[in-house]
Amino acid sequence: MSKLKLGVLISGRGSNLQALIDACANASYPAEIVTVISNRADAKGLTRARAANIATQVIEHTAYGDRESFDRDVDAALQAAGAQLICLAGFMRLLSAWFVDQWPDRIVNIHPSLLPAFKGTDSHAQALAAGVKLSGCSVHFVRSEMDAGPIVMQAAVPVLPGDNEDSLAARVLTAEHQCYPRAVRLIAENRVTVEDGRVVIADAGATAEPLFNPPLD
Ligand code: GRF
Repeated sequence: MSKLKLGVLISGRGSNLQALIDACANASYPAEIVTVISNRADAKGLTRARAANIATQVIEHTAYGDRESFDRDVDAALQAAGAQLICLAGFMRLLSAWFVDQWPDRIVNIHPSLLPAFKGTDSHAQALAAGVKLSGCSVHFVRSEMDAGPIVMQAAVPVLPGDNEDSLAARVLTAEHQCYPRAVRLIAENRVTVEDGRVVIADAGATAEPLFNPPLD
């Protein structure tokens, strides 16, 4: 069976990209990364992609006068690489409505909160300020509004006494690295559909167990 071709967009560290690279290294994984595109030449994720012999491209947004001309070049690069699903992995640019329309339900993002709570770049600070006892991460289809769109998969992570942004981010990131490859696998296996703005997953399995924090006695 042919593998789903992924185009991964990054801006920085690329640890979620690495999780996808590692998943794709397994012969039975139903997706492969055909290109990694960064809007920053110094993104550490580019080094990870090159180490895995994945084609990389740098398209610097600062070279463009407006968002849509940048988006058109990113779109052209993804098309040329044969990408079928776009994975945003720490990509720090908003995508125009034009771009999102080119890829209907073909763009996914990972966000470090249980959406729709705590959108934006400071989700861990928001979670700590709100005093929630569970935070987590969400993989969702992308809409032109920031951190919005049908949710494919979430992982809940406890917020612990004494947590700061860094400790909570690290705990959530560990879950992200498990969540993103799993969500992409479900999509690549054609088990994910969007119905009435919500994701339906065929045969995903289910647990009815609640997650408590603090734990029950
Ligand atoms: C992750 O926390 C992701 O959820 C958010 O940006 C961060 C990117 O980290 N969108 P990395 O570049 O994948 O290490």
